[in-house]
Amino acid sequence: MIPLFDLTGQYKIIEKEIVSVIKKVLNKGQYILGDEVKNFEKEFAKYLNIKYSVGLASGTDALKIALKSLGLSPEDEVILPANVYPTAFGVREAGVKIKLVDVNLDTYNLDLNLLEKTITEKTKAVIIVHLYGQPADLDSILSIAKKYNLFVIEDCAQAHGAEYKGKKVGTFGDVGCFSFYPTKPLGAYGDGGMIVTNNKRIFEKTLALRMYGEKKRYQSVTFGYNSRIDEIQAAILRIKLKYLNRWNKERRKKAILYKKELKKIREIKVPLEIKHSEGVYHLFVIRAKKRNDLKRYLEKKGIITGIHYPLPIHLVESFRYLGYKNGDFPVSEKLSAEVLSLPLYAEINSEKIKYVTEEIKSFYEEKT
Ligand SMILES: Cc1ncc(COP(=O)(O)O)c(C=O)c1O
Repeated sequence: MIPLFDLTGQYKIIEKEIVSVIKKVLNKGQYILGDEVKNFEKEFAKYLNIKYSVGLASGTDALKIALKSLGLSPEDEVILPANVYPTAFGVREAGVKIKLVDVNLDTYNLDLNLLEKTITEKTKAVIIVHLYGQPADLDSILSIAKKYNLFVIEDCAQAHGAEYKGKKVGTFGDVGCFSFYPTKPLGAYGDGGMIVTNNKRIFEKTLALRMYGEKKRYQSVTFGYNSRIDEIQAAILRIKLKYLNRWNKERRKKAILYKKELKKIREIKVPLEIKHSEGVYHLFVIRAKKRNDLKRYLEKKGIITGIHYPLPIHLVESFRYLGYKNGDFPVSEKLSAEVLSLPLYAEINSEKIKYVTEEIKSFYEEKT
């Protein structure tokens, strides 16, 4: 069987180091906001080349707290792409008005013309999602944001280490938000998240918001949350951070092999990397004709694939309240029906990739 991700395979490679740091934390007895978190925050900020970072409980919390740290009110509008299911929840929790914008069919990222048309006087922020680990067109979005005086939040939950013009994503906007959900390019063995910024005011607000809104211990000055990454996860992430560049490079190499092997299949579109960008391929997402049949066929051959995501936000039951309807975001709707994530992880070998691509070829040959 070829899984979509192989977390245990990767764990086996680093098992000794991981077990040793977990024991260290357990023996020390400080499990919340200790040296591991402090050091991980420092090391991750250094890796990105940014001033401040705050470890949080999840990527969803990072988005919520990022928006809260900007002081947005319930009437303020925040724009996000219509196809990024997991992003929407943190934005909703921040209590702002969600405005969706359709995406470009080739990049799966914000359609720039539509973005500009959606901006009103109430729009205060735009969320850039570096979806599947591919940097969005930062120059264009940042210049639109500047023109309309919008805050920029980068959702980097899938893009740890991805670069645009030689600079890591998460460092372009006002705030960068990361998730350390286990399957992510940098994944914990539980939940975790982080906010990064060069803005001291946002940093200080975030620090307070992650701990009851406290200025000092037991001096809560604003309504805050309880959202902390724990010491064990931080210790694990410090180990895994040392491997991140190597793993990202391996996934890129395998993605290039996929592209080469799939190039000739007319029924398939492979992911595009925009100019000046170096993606980290959190996922290798193709667009495929007869997607559901293909998925079932591959499963019978022992190949597990994923769909990220089966519905655009406006058609998800819990977001019906936004008032959008079927047909409002046609590209996102089309993508939901066509996207398929193929197995990709640093340790997958070329033989397995060739097996996957041969089976995809066989499927379309049988169909025609
Ligand atoms: C693009 C994106 N944004 C936000 C999130 C939310 O992160 P978390 O699962 O850590 O809350 C995820 C993770 O699923 C994601 O992929």
